[in-house]
Amino acid sequence: MPLKIICEDITKINCDAIVNAANSTLLGGGGVDGAIHKAAGKNLLAECRTLGGCKTGEAKITKGYKLPAKYIIHTVGPRYKDGKHEEESYLRACYRNSLELAKQNKCKSVAFPLISSGIYMYPKDEALKVAVDEISTFLFKEEMLVYIVIYDKSNYKIDEKLFNDISAYIDKNYVESILLEKCLNFNYDIDFEEDEQIVSAVESEYKKRSLDDALKQLDESFSQMLLRKIDEKGMTDAECYKNANIDRKLFSKIRSNRFYKPSKTTAIAFAIALELPLAETNEMLMKAGFALSHSNKFDIVIEYFIINENYNIFEINQALFALDLPLLGV
Ligand code: APR
Repeated sequence: MPLKIICEDITKINCDAIVNAANSTLLGGGGVDGAIHKAAGKNLLAECRTLGGCKTGEAKITKGYKLPAKYIIHTVGPRYKDGKHEEESYLRACYRNSLELAKQNKCKSVAFPLISSGIYMYPKDEALKVAVDEISTFLFKEEMLVYIVIYDKSNYKIDEKLFNDISAYIDKNYVESILLEKCLNFNYDIDFEEDEQIVSAVESEYKKRSLDDALKQLDESFSQMLLRKIDEKGMTDAECYKNANIDRKLFSKIRSNRFYKPSKTTAIAFAIALELPLAETNEMLMKAGFALSHSNKFDIVIEYFIINENYNIFEINQALFALDLPLLGV
């Protein structure tokens, strides 16, 4: 998965480069800067002394020394004042310049902390949006595995309105499905308009197709439907797997094996990348042996985003991470 959000101490991550949220002296400090210098050992400070500092928004690279990571990319984020002192553009530059430096040093994997979101007081939900936006823009043109490392999950913040809307949608549907199961056990007669909506949506999809088309597609495999949909949408393969947050290797496996069985999160990731409506998403999932269900919070969150026609997989993953649910992609 090209962009993952994980909960970890960045000094423990074994990837090609980790990014340090440093200050302009590059001579260490508190927060993640202090943790990285402590874990890397004193030779890191000796090398930093030779760099002559670093300007806000820029990035410089050193060896990783005692860290599992081969390199450390030091970048200086903006101190947040009121959002009117170019804080956002400096923060974006930190991600862009760090990713460019990683690419120049042939890094295949990079881990970022949430730059400026600690001592420099950048609002965490805004800092996360900038990070995801800049990293996903880079990943649409480059191949790299990028981690956003959340050290303290308790103050991980996503957009409050989005979080409340999703939670309300889960409560409404998830409760109903438990009620549905209870009632089915007692054979109560229940009709949930949502389920009827899904059934009628699938039926109307099938009615629109000619009989022989529908028969042809009945025995179509998951990967055949995926490739057919890519053609119908006029997408390139790369656009599809990048929008699905899936790496090229996995896509090639699926493309070359018509009977390939993807994981549920991978199948859903492609349905999101293709911006399929709910009925076609369920149809594609069924070809991989899965279905969205109201007795599964993860499925309800996916259904929420599809019904609201929000197919931004990075935004969906931020919400899934906030709800401690699996992320979309490989
Ligand atoms: N692993 C991952 N993330 C961490 C770790 C860690 N070990 N320690 C802290 N963080 C997270 C914080 O929770 C925060 O979300 O890193 C993010 C950035 O916080 P800071 O380290 O405070 O960095 P920043 O806000 O950019 O302020 C930079 O702080 O440490 C000094 O020298 C540094 O002056 C500079 C300033």
